[in-house]
Amino acid sequence: MNNVNTFKKMKKDGHKIVMVTAYDYPSGKYVQEAEVDIILVGDSLGMVILGYEDTLKVTLDDIIHHTRAARRGADDTFIVADMPFMSYHLSLEETKENAAMLITQGGANAVKLEGGKPSRLEAIRAIVDCEIPVVAHLGLTPQSINALGGYRVQGKKKEQFSTILEHAKEIEKAGAFMLVLEGIPEELGKQISETISIPTIGIGAGRYTDGQVLVYHDILGMADLKPKFVKHYAQLNQVIPASIKHFSKDVKEGKFPSDEYIYNPIK
Ligand code: KIV
Repeated sequence: MNNVNTFKKMKKDGHKIVMVTAYDYPSGKYVQEAEVDIILVGDSLGMVILGYEDTLKVTLDDIIHHTRAARRGADDTFIVADMPFMSYHLSLEETKENAAMLITQGGANAVKLEGGKPSRLEAIRAIVDCEIPVVAHLGLTPQSINALGGYRVQGKKKEQFSTILEHAKEIEKAGAFMLVLEGIPEELGKQISETISIPTIGIGAGRYTDGQVLVYHDILGMADLKPKFVKHYAQLNQVIPASIKHFSKDVKEGKFPSDEYIYNPIK
């Protein structure tokens, strides 16, 4: 299985890192079969699995439950589990306890949290101090949508650009081993990736990050929305209802089950 050193070496050697989300046994299994480098059990599960309109209602128990299932499907893949909204904001004690639960109960290898301001850096340091590897997340951080005023590209203005770049440097110093960059201009993704020595994984951050991540349902064309940075590699949103409709039609027309699907059919 990959580990934190593998990813460091991949950046050093210029090998792109692939991260894909998974949330349950089948998605974990398929993503592992596709030989991706890292699975992320993201809090995006709130939207693509649980049908919430954002990620804010996702709980620690939700992430533990889905990480366990993904782990059963992907026994040999490095798994990062997202720390949900408010699970690392209150006290360092609670932060460490919650991070540890994702490892001990969920079976994750590392945790991810959003933001780069001083309180987040403290949280990163506290978790790393417990020997738990941390992935940080900057740019368009979905847990902050209310504070950001919606899903907007971050870092377009000069001042914001510099703040995100500074946060990236501080995150490396705080001990995170990887940084997800979401919804930022390509130039900022490039500058951060060239400035810090830990690998950067982009989603809507252009071509120059050390790796890319996409949500499973987006790759397969199953999600309701299609942001600019998403490429559909399949259209399961058409294949799935069409297949179920076909089954339903066969039943109604008496075509299913036919002989081949029946034990000892009456001749
Ligand atoms: O929750 C998630 O899936 C994520 C990715 C979009 C990076 O944080």
